[in-house]
Parts: sequence; structure tokens; C-alpha cells
Amino acid sequence: MYSTLLTSLENNILIITINRPDKLNALNQQVMSDLNDVMDEVYRNPEIKSVIITGAGPKSFVAGADISEFVGSSIEQGKALAKRGQDIFFKIENAPKPVMACVNGFALGGGCELAMSCHFRIASENAKFGQPEVNLGLLPGYGGTQRLTQLIGKGRALELLMSGGMIDAATALQYGLVNYVLPQEQLLQKAKDILNIINSKAPIAVAGCITAANAVFDETKNGFDVELNEFGKCFVTDDMKEGTAAFLEKRKAIFKGK
Ligand code: COA
Repeated sequence: MYSTLLTSLENNILIITINRPDKLNALNQQVMSDLNDVMDEVYRNPEIKSVIITGAGPKSFVAGADISEFVGSSIEQGKALAKRGQDIFFKIENAPKPVMACVNGFALGGGCELAMSCHFRIASENAKFGQPEVNLGLLPGYGGTQRLTQLIGKGRALELLMSGGMIDAATALQYGLVNYVLPQEQLLQKAKDILNIINSKAPIAVAGCITAANAVFDETKNGFDVELNEFGKCFVTDDMKEGTAAFLEKRKAIFKGK
């Protein structure tokens, strides 16, 4: 269905594997288009409760935007290329269901930006993160300057952005860029374990957590107001009645997303 992605739905978790291993899963325009389409499916399909994004093969998550497509002759063309990437990554960031990056190797340039647009990240021991665009006479264009600074702080982000250097998985863990580092063969199972727990919670409340946390970084919004609204929305759901009743009755809640 997607020419550059493998997808499988297991236990309500959609696993999206970017599948260009011979090019280290670089993001060409077809991958970007497929990512856009698969995210539409994530928003639409009630069978999908959460998402894992990973890369094919043991070496690379995504080694960046496809450099062979970097041709153009106007400022407008450059901005349009970046805007398309930003929009698709906003779609991931604002998804009403958890999207997790399983970083199984290089996450460079657009690959690091893709991982950072996900709600959180785990990495294999061989993972490497970086924004090497300055080596190409560029800077990140898919949100990397913003999200890297949000996630690891200005000083660390600017060092990485301006030097074009890479950090290893242990450093990414220390910086808070990833939540866990695991041997590669355990990576996917850890992701599934985390998402199975989240999938057992009330979906409207889970979506509210994403909306409220994203508001921290949106200057057009007052995050505390967003939190109030999301809390209010949850307060009248069947799942809230079920969750509180189940607690009082000392049983496990069964949530329906209503
Ligand atoms: N765009 C297009 N092709 C890419 C790519 C990218 N971002 N990253 C890797 N590839 C391709 C290589 O051109 C090579 O293709 P080929 O076999 O047809 O020559 C293939 O993927 C394997 O990469 P290679 O460079 O041979 O692997 P390596 O192990 O020697 O090096 C990296 C790995 C990640 C260090 C190196 O590929 C690299 O620096 N990639 C570019 C990273 C980057 O600048 N990303 C930001 C882009 S904005």
C-alpha cells in the first residue's frame, strides 16, 4: 500500500518501518508522501491506538532527507521543501494517539527531526543522533532547530546544530533525548510493552495529555487553559465514569474511548 513503508497492525499498535535500507532509509519525497498518508490513516482508523516508527535494517533509523533531491534555484523552492516537511512532522506531533520513535541506528538530519516529532523516543545501543546539515551548507528545515532546543536545551542544541556533530545513544539518554537505551534485539519489544500499557488507558485522556503537553511549546496557547479544557472534556466521558467506578469497586477499568 505504501511503496516506501512497511506497516503492520498488531494489538492495536501500528508499526511503521521506513524501508529504504540501501539508502539508510533517507527521506525522499515518496517517503514523505507515504508518511503523510499513513498519518492520515492513524488519525482515521479506530483500530490504531498507538504507533511505532522505526527504520528497516540494523544500521539506520533514518540518515536524513535524501540529499540527491536537494536541487533548486530559488528561496521559495527551499522554503516549500522545508514547509512540506514541517507540516508532515506537525501531523505526527499533533496526532491524537501516541507516536513513539524506535531509533535503531543513525537518526541524522531529517531522521533526528522525525524522531523528535514523535511523542517520545527509545533507542538501540548503536543509535547516533545529529543534525549534520551545516556540513551541506544548510540548517535543519523540518523543525529540528526548534524541537532539539526544546528537548535538550539551547546550549547543547546549538553545539550540535552548529558543529554538525553526532552524539551516541548513551549521551542522548543523558540529555533526555531518549527515554531508554536497549540492545537492538530488545528495542521493539520494549516499545510494545510501553504502548500496551498506554493502550489500556482511557483514549480521550491520553489524547488530552498529548494536546496539553504540546501546548507548552505553542506560544499562541495558554497551556494551563488547554489543560482545563482537556480535563473538562474528560470529566463527562463514559470512560471517566468507568475509571472512577472501577477504582471504587476494586476492579480493572475497561475503557471504550467514549
Ligand atoms: N541522502 C541520500 N542518500 C543517503 C543519505 C542521505 N541523507 N544517507 C546515506 N545515503 C546513501 C549513501 O549515498 C549510500 O548510497 P550508495 O550505496 O548508493 O552510495 C548509502 O546510503 C549508504 O550510505 P554510506 O554513506 O555508504 O554509509 P556509511 O556507513 O559509510 O555512512 C553515514 C553512514 C550516515 C555517516 C553517511 O551515509 C552520511 O553521512 N549520510 C548523510 C547524513 C546527512 O548529512 N544527513 C542530513 C541530510 S539533510
